[in-house]
Amino acid sequence: MSKSRKMRPLLPALLLLLLLCPCGAESRSPSRPSFVLVMADDLGIGDPGCYGNRTLRTPNIDRLARGGVKLTQHLAASPLCTPSRAAFMTGRYPVRSGMASRSRVGVFLFSASSGGLPTSEITFARLLKEQGYATALIGKWHLGLSCDRPADLCHHPLSHGFDAFYGLPVTNLRDCKPGAGSVFASGARLLVWAPLQAVGAALLTLGALRALGLVRVPPAAFLLLLLLAAAPLAALLAFLHFFRPLNCFLMRDRDVTQQPFSYDRLTQRLTAEAARFIRRNAERPFLLVLSYLHVHTAHFSSPDFAGRSQHGAYGDAAEEMDWSLGQILDVLEDTQLANNTLVYFSSDHGAHVEEVTAKGERHGGSNGIFKGGKSNNWEGGIRVPGILRWPGVIPAGQEVHEPTSNMDIFPTVAKLAGSPLPDDRIIDGRDLMPLLQGRSPRSEHEFLFHYCNFYLNAVRWHPRGSTSIWKAFYFTPKFTPQGANGCFSTHVCFCHSHFVTRHDPPLLFDLSRDPRESTPLTPETEPRFHDILRAMQEAADGHRATLTAAPDQLSVGNLLWKPWLQLCCSTPRLACRCDKEAQGPGATH
Ligand SMILES: *[C@@H]1O[C@H](CO)[C@@H](O)[C@H](O)[C@H]1NC(C)=O
Ligand SMILES: *[C@@H]1O[C@H](CO)[C@@H](O)[C@H](O)[C@H]1NC(C)=O
Repeated sequence: MSKSRKMRPLLPALLLLLLLCPCGAESRSPSRPSFVLVMADDLGIGDPGCYGNRTLRTPNIDRLARGGVKLTQHLAASPLCTPSRAAFMTGRYPVRSGMASRSRVGVFLFSASSGGLPTSEITFARLLKEQGYATALIGKWHLGLSCDRPADLCHHPLSHGFDAFYGLPVTNLRDCKPGAGSVFASGARLLVWAPLQAVGAALLTLGALRALGLVRVPPAAFLLLLLLAAAPLAALLAFLHFFRPLNCFLMRDRDVTQQPFSYDRLTQRLTAEAARFIRRNAERPFLLVLSYLHVHTAHFSSPDFAGRSQHGAYGDAAEEMDWSLGQILDVLEDTQLANNTLVYFSSDHGAHVEEVTAKGERHGGSNGIFKGGKSNNWEGGIRVPGILRWPGVIPAGQEVHEPTSNMDIFPTVAKLAGSPLPDDRIIDGRDLMPLLQGRSPRSEHEFLFHYCNFYLNAVRWHPRGSTSIWKAFYFTPKFTPQGANGCFSTHVCFCHSHFVTRHDPPLLFDLSRDPRESTPLTPETEPRFHDILRAMQEAADGHRATLTAAPDQLSVGNLLWKPWLQLCCSTPRLACRCDKEAQGPGATH
């Protein structure tokens, strides 16, 4: 009697619990999905069909968008590969991990550099691995390799929470493909061409003076000058010759398997590996980061795609990538995993508009209506495609216009996997699920800070209760030649000294009215001009106060080629050539 009385108040609560509890046979628990996070390289927001392109065919990116949420203001944390990817992996501004360069070079170029994502950084892969997820990175890494010895692989994906790695430790570059040119061309001109011209001029002058009988020049002097001319040339030729095997190679876990890598069926090989990983882990939660080489130069595509698009080699590569994504989506359907997998698709930053071949063919993508591109913080450099799909959990066919960041993936994925966030450091990303599920209409990012490498370039402010998106630039890149939409003379824009124009007061735009960033506001056109800038300055000061010094991973010392760190799959080490790919795929698990 007394017992049932005690029970009575509990009963409605129990019933309510039963109603809320997703324990029925049909309803599956929405917790702990698997993750397929897809990152394209240099793909512009104007490239996918679902972002408005009518001529580049991306049916699979479009299909993903139809099944999920399309973000229209998704922002890369940096307009360059290495820092953007560091931020993506850690949920933190790259400046916090030392992955933001103070010099001109903002990315790793050599496999045998000592810089990289510090082991003290926590990637989402590490968090998920701790939660029992199977984790793999397939494709491009570009976040460093070794620290002190070639075998320590301290920066390698396997040291950052991935159980498996198959792909390029550095990046696809023009220099990786014979005949595709060199990214070092302009640097080489400076370093080799100038001294060569000086020595040449000296030789001619001396020769003329001697012929006129004005001076007596010993033949040894001529020889010395000739040697002086030959030395930088020989060094350059050696550099260009060895660059490819030393830096363009494929690894499977800790082993170098193809050095230099072959472009032959490369996307197909990466795709098959990704499909195998999914099938192998169908019975357990997994994290697959599929990091495409497309659509960075040098462009390549298999015979099925070469010459098929309306946009040359660039379009062929983009359409091959789209095909690959389709294969992965098909595997998720085949294995009945689609409904329990969160798929994310994005690009590490905007399209590289300066990529135009000597023949004038555009090898960079489209940033749609947006200004600028890769290597600068105009919207074209950082506003990237962003699509998230999780059928039944994230409503299909929606668009979210609020500002979001590629750093948001970190806390979103961690939370869904049941992992607490690290509490000993600042995480700059924010959980996306409230926005994606329509539970919250507002982005949690009131302010976002846009860095050009180490330098705070611009601030974005989306004030609460307002539709405005203010963006204030402290400096802007000097586009060259004048009037161009990019830094064509240097191939990428640099972030400091005479390469930029400083603005005081900062250049202010309201992106909600002027997404093309065409007309800076003035106190006359925007009465609140000074108040807005003051609020943004205070936010920037507050943000700066949270920064602590981190060892510079992209210092000249950490960027340089260090011969003793060179990975080489063959002996003698100088040759560095092997091909173990022919032995067949899936050699490891
Ligand atoms: C579609 O993409 C191609 C390749 O990047 C580009 O040349 C073209 O301008 C784009 N079209 C639009 C409407 O952005
Ligand atoms: C997946 O989820 C969608 C949306 O909730 C549903 O319509 C579909 O039937 C589900 N498919 C499977 C195989 O459970």
